[in-house]
Amino acid sequence: MTDTAAADAPKKTTLTVTLDGQPIEANPGELLIAAAERHGTFIPRFCWHPRMREVGMCRMCLVEVSGPRGMSLQPACMQPCAEGMVVDTKSEIVKKAQDGILEFLLVNHPLDCPVCDKGGECPLQDQTLTFGPGESRFVEEKRHYEKPISISELVLLDRERCILCDRCTRFSKEVAGDPLIHFINRGNMTEVNTFPEDPFSSYFSGNVVQICPVGALTASPYRFAARPWDLDQVESTCTSCAVGCKTVVQSSGDQITRFQGVDSDPVNWGWLCDKGRFGYEAQSSNQRFPSPLLRAADGTFAPVTWIDALDITAKRLRAYDPSQVGFIGGARLTNEDQYAWVKLAKSVLRTDNFDAQLGDGLPAAAVLGLPGATINDLADAALVISLGPDVKEELPVLFLRLRDAVTVKRTPLVEFSPIQTGISSIAGASLQHRPGEVSVLIESVLEAVAGKTIERQISGLEPAAINAAAALIAKASASGRGNGKVVVLLGRVSMADSTDAIVEAATRLQAALPNVVFLPLTRRSNLRGALDLGLTPGMLPGRVSQLEGASWFGAHWAATPATTGLGTIEMLNAAADGHLKALVLLGADLLADVADRSLVEHALTNIEFLLCVDTLANETNARANIVLAATSSAEKDGTTTNIEGRITRVAAKVSGPGTARPDWMIATMLASQLGADLGFENVSQITTEIGRVAPSHLGLPDALNDRANVDGVLLPVRRADVADTDPASSEDSALIEDSALIEDNALIEDNAPSEESDAASSGPAVPTLLTFVPSSTAAVVPTPDSYSLRLVVSRTLYDSGIHVQNSPSLAKLTPSVGVRLHQTEIDRHGLRSGGPVKLLSQTADVVTTVIADERVPRGVAWVPFNQRGLNISTLMDQTALAAEGITKVRLETVGS
Ligand code: SF4
Ligand code: SF4
Ligand code: FES
Repeated sequence: MTDTAAADAPKKTTLTVTLDGQPIEANPGELLIAAAERHGTFIPRFCWHPRMREVGMCRMCLVEVSGPRGMSLQPACMQPCAEGMVVDTKSEIVKKAQDGILEFLLVNHPLDCPVCDKGGECPLQDQTLTFGPGESRFVEEKRHYEKPISISELVLLDRERCILCDRCTRFSKEVAGDPLIHFINRGNMTEVNTFPEDPFSSYFSGNVVQICPVGALTASPYRFAARPWDLDQVESTCTSCAVGCKTVVQSSGDQITRFQGVDSDPVNWGWLCDKGRFGYEAQSSNQRFPSPLLRAADGTFAPVTWIDALDITAKRLRAYDPSQVGFIGGARLTNEDQYAWVKLAKSVLRTDNFDAQLGDGLPAAAVLGLPGATINDLADAALVISLGPDVKEELPVLFLRLRDAVTVKRTPLVEFSPIQTGISSIAGASLQHRPGEVSVLIESVLEAVAGKTIERQISGLEPAAINAAAALIAKASASGRGNGKVVVLLGRVSMADSTDAIVEAATRLQAALPNVVFLPLTRRSNLRGALDLGLTPGMLPGRVSQLEGASWFGAHWAATPATTGLGTIEMLNAAADGHLKALVLLGADLLADVADRSLVEHALTNIEFLLCVDTLANETNARANIVLAATSSAEKDGTTTNIEGRITRVAAKVSGPGTARPDWMIATMLASQLGADLGFENVSQITTEIGRVAPSHLGLPDALNDRANVDGVLLPVRRADVADTDPASSEDSALIEDSALIEDNALIEDNAPSEESDAASSGPAVPTLLTFVPSSTAAVVPTPDSYSLRLVVSRTLYDSGIHVQNSPSLAKLTPSVGVRLHQTEIDRHGLRSGGPVKLLSQTADVVTTVIADERVPRGVAWVPFNQRGLNISTLMDQTALAAEGITKVRLETVGS
């Protein structure tokens, strides 16, 4: 072969290795232990974990490998495959090495398997049985330690069980970035421990319990709760936030006992955050509703039958015009629950007053209409720009994926935020702008990216910092590294700011940078699904606007709303004014979650009929006329949609309390009471209908059942497979006819069935999916005011919300309450850290504690949202916020 021919020859993309006498294919760079496992040969291991860097600590994976000097023992977890390599995993020499390693590891291991949580699912037990010597020559006294010691509120350590594999320490340092557990002491006395006075406070501590190959690390909520052989389990999706981590839910005796992470390559890599892992305790809280409740004349609740509760609800709802009825919430429900409620609201009641967001998110058009990114897009991006909230606090496992991208793959990260966040320390540039001014700053940065040198301060930032960030953006976005994409993390940073500046900033980035895609950081687990399924005004299921989808849904549904409805804040204003008469809350705790408490108070005081469909008692549903008891995520089947638009399954594992029912069933029963038939009797029929009716979901059930989609289905589903017409399948037609037969239903009387039939026969085309159209109105630029500080209100992982507070293990992790200020502001206002301070806004004042925090810039007051005893939402006023773009507060010493 000539040199040219050799150069032109296609590069070999796989290698051939002879494993135990059989040829196998391996990828270049692939570790022998992984390649062997892919081909069905399990090489025992303790320290190696496929999602962490190899360390070769335990030597359990020794195998014979060919080399220049013949066969030699090598750790398979440290050995990259090479062409022509010969490997023997079963030779006598390998067996002797495995015997020796296991005998050595057991020298000090206490063998207290009968009382160890890991017993029955322990790699040390299993591998000793499969690969071990069968007997030990050691009769000496073993090490003894105090057991267990608590290294955090959630994790216990039995040091004598530790085999020093370095998994927990590597996870904490390399994956989570919380280097709080280490090896201490030396030789035979080496042990894992924390620094004195420095507990293992990590949002990800449960992962070390899961990956510890012995029972050295155990979780206090699970310790002695069950034996592995008593557990029954089902694969599901965590619904505590919108990352949608893959889990198994385990139960014993119809009680949830444990959540374990499952490796989903595009999503969580097997990791869970502690809120997702331990928050299941809320599902068995004594604050759950076991049955419907009816408010009596004296204001107390009394249990009522489902028939009576639904009958009263239907009568009350029937009394109102569609414009007088509103629905708020639904973001924590499954897609099937959401579809049932939206069909009830928009097709049966014909109201478009429906909003799953609680005034704290981005416009639906931006979430659904901007070009979307996946988590894997972010992991392999040329550049990541963060314009969103603190991912470590709001979407913890996304933080782990981002951290891996930045620290391992060296992906450049540029952050724009009013305060320092969990990603500031790993970002190549982190610019803390004044609240409400992100768009102004982005405009200048993009000018610098285009070649202009910024020479003046922008939003309080020095020109050098702006020019440096711009240089990083220019270099990375033009580099073509990774997948060549610029991934923008987009979300609502502060509830005290309007969304306009963030959306305007996104628009500027989209116009200026090539290959920009957006990953919306939505709040609440299935908000993305809710928006996709039309739980927002002006939209219908399947990512289509009411206008665009009118004829398609005219053929599929009995009716659609006649007018465009109101969003949450508008509905609350309408309720406060007396125009909205009935409010249906779907798992929405308005008093806790809406950033304007006085507006909510007015709305709840003036509303005539409040129906709450909920799982747990809270301050808002305590004021309901009727409460309908709903099941929670581990008690029902269905699907959910994560931040990427990835649909995965949620599975029922235990029974709900009392007669609590899944939301879809409640919606179906209520529709029936209203004289309508939603057309489905079980979850699978709803999934099927979504896959037939919702334009972005067409073909969903088949896609979900496709084994290639084991990690879920990305929206929009396989549009190319779907015919453009013929929406009126036989079942849909039946539904329309059923509805048309209901003659006594005033609410749907005016849906002329002949129109639907005509539309169906003419076969309207599949509507076009929504795309983002930038607003022509510029965002308000807040005016400078040296007398006030700008308020930042953001979420933290643990707060005083009902989920955390009903999970005893998490409730104690809620951070201290107070306003966080830069020391300069504390001094300037004559305050002291730990002392009291009065915060005054245009609407109200609150007294709280001063906490000095160097992450907060001067001129800013940062208050984490939803803290016990501090109603920060009383300081926020949605009208003022819309006008000024920000919330201003003044500080006063208490007593002045
Ligand atoms: Fe390994 Fe567990 Fe010991 Fe950590 S505690 S080093 S994970 S055996
Ligand atoms: Fe659950 Fe979100 Fe945590 Fe994943 S990151 S485990 S989805 S709460
Ligand atoms: Fe290879 Fe531990 S698994 S050295």
